[in-house]
Amino acid sequence: MRISVIGCGYLGAVHAASMAELGHEVVGVEVDERKAELLAAGKTPFYEPGFDELLARSLASGRLTFSSQMSAAAGAQVHFVCVGTPQKRGEYAADLRFVEGAVASLVEVLQPGELVVGKSTVPVGTAARLAEVVMEKVPGALLAWNPEFLREGYAVQDTLHPDRLVYGVPAGDTRAEALLDEVYATIVAAATPKVVTDYATAEMVKTAANSFLATKISFINAMAELCEATGADVKQLADAIGHDDRIGRKFLNAGLGFGGGCLPKDIRAFMARAGELGADQALTFLREVDNINMRRRIRMVELAREVLDGSLLGKRIAVLGAAFKPESDDIRDSPALNVAAQLQLQGATVVVTDPAAVENCKAQWPQLDYADSAEEAARGADAVLLLTEWKQFRSLDPAEFGKVVKQKRVLDGRNALDRDAWEAAGWSYRALGRRHAG
Ligand code: UDX
Repeated sequence: MRISVIGCGYLGAVHAASMAELGHEVVGVEVDERKAELLAAGKTPFYEPGFDELLARSLASGRLTFSSQMSAAAGAQVHFVCVGTPQKRGEYAADLRFVEGAVASLVEVLQPGELVVGKSTVPVGTAARLAEVVMEKVPGALLAWNPEFLREGYAVQDTLHPDRLVYGVPAGDTRAEALLDEVYATIVAAATPKVVTDYATAEMVKTAANSFLATKISFINAMAELCEATGADVKQLADAIGHDDRIGRKFLNAGLGFGGGCLPKDIRAFMARAGELGADQALTFLREVDNINMRRRIRMVELAREVLDGSLLGKRIAVLGAAFKPESDDIRDSPALNVAAQLQLQGATVVVTDPAAVENCKAQWPQLDYADSAEEAARGADAVLLLTEWKQFRSLDPAEFGKVVKQKRVLDGRNALDRDAWEAAGWSYRALGRRHAG
């Protein structure tokens, strides 16, 4: 099939290359000319495991091209809208200007019988509104909503082997479903569960899923607060409740909490939309989910101050990890970078290292110091903070690593280190929600 993908950021670039991998002829349309040129040259504008190879393969097959012009989308049977929906400045609501702009310019080249597919995360009600725009401008064209659940770090795998397909389609019209089945033929043939529903449900599946995940993380972080107050151990607690398969152990890792370009802004946009719909009470708990999450960052700074004998002034702190999660260079709303910056603002000298995110960090926080390795960051440090659990950091040898620091104090912001091994090597170990030696 001929497919266009509008918006080649994280979601769109991976989607475009994956659709080419599935055998389709794909054009990625990206208004940022520099980004379109980079992608066309096989260079990836972000770090995502496996994406380099996928992009190279798709370009070499001749089935994937990029353009900065919407006119390049003309003639495709299916057009995926993959632009961003960031949080509005100073408000909780999502900023829909990119989605609306993309659809407005797409309808100029759209033909009857073609299908517009929204993949961006949008407030419930958006698809119905956009469907009207599409049908009014191009009678006979169709719109479907097909949310994406990819996780950064696993984007390629999640796109090519999703755990479910969700199609929001117009009532009583089977054409959109048939076209989507054709696009995803390989995935459908792999017996991937498929939910075909209305627009509103499809839109809500995405925000409900992200809200559930955020709630699960904040739940265990609330338990961590209680563990800190009582001397209990949140890691053992999570293991024990996680054995109940109604609860499950996944997403029960207590620590610095969630960040990134999705979870924080999606729960806020969901609350804002509920307010507009007069159903704000249904989601007031998400405000608490957000609060618990943000409190972890403050607690981490306090814990650092506590282990540094009550003052951050003039102390040298090594921060391991700045991306919002491992295997990503994304620093949007990164808890790690947020804590690093706070420590610096409160008088510490902070040296940050991250296997992928340092360049992005430098642009946002030039006043922090940066190092190429954990050893370099930790040289002469009064304390080491693990804030993003990259495997490079998890596998550090505490005995060797202990030789470069001034004080063997480690704060494990992700409950990811082998506490016994670090303590055996002479480190004082502290973590959120865990007992400490005294
Ligand atoms: C998320 C959803 O998982 C994905 O389905 C959706 O499409 C986009 O948003 P992503 O933002 O890539 O994906 O990251 P995710 O793996 O969900 O992690 C989000 C944040 O939660 C990270 O900061 C991570 O460190 C944190 N987290 C995750 C925890 O603090 N504890 C956990 O147990 C799990």
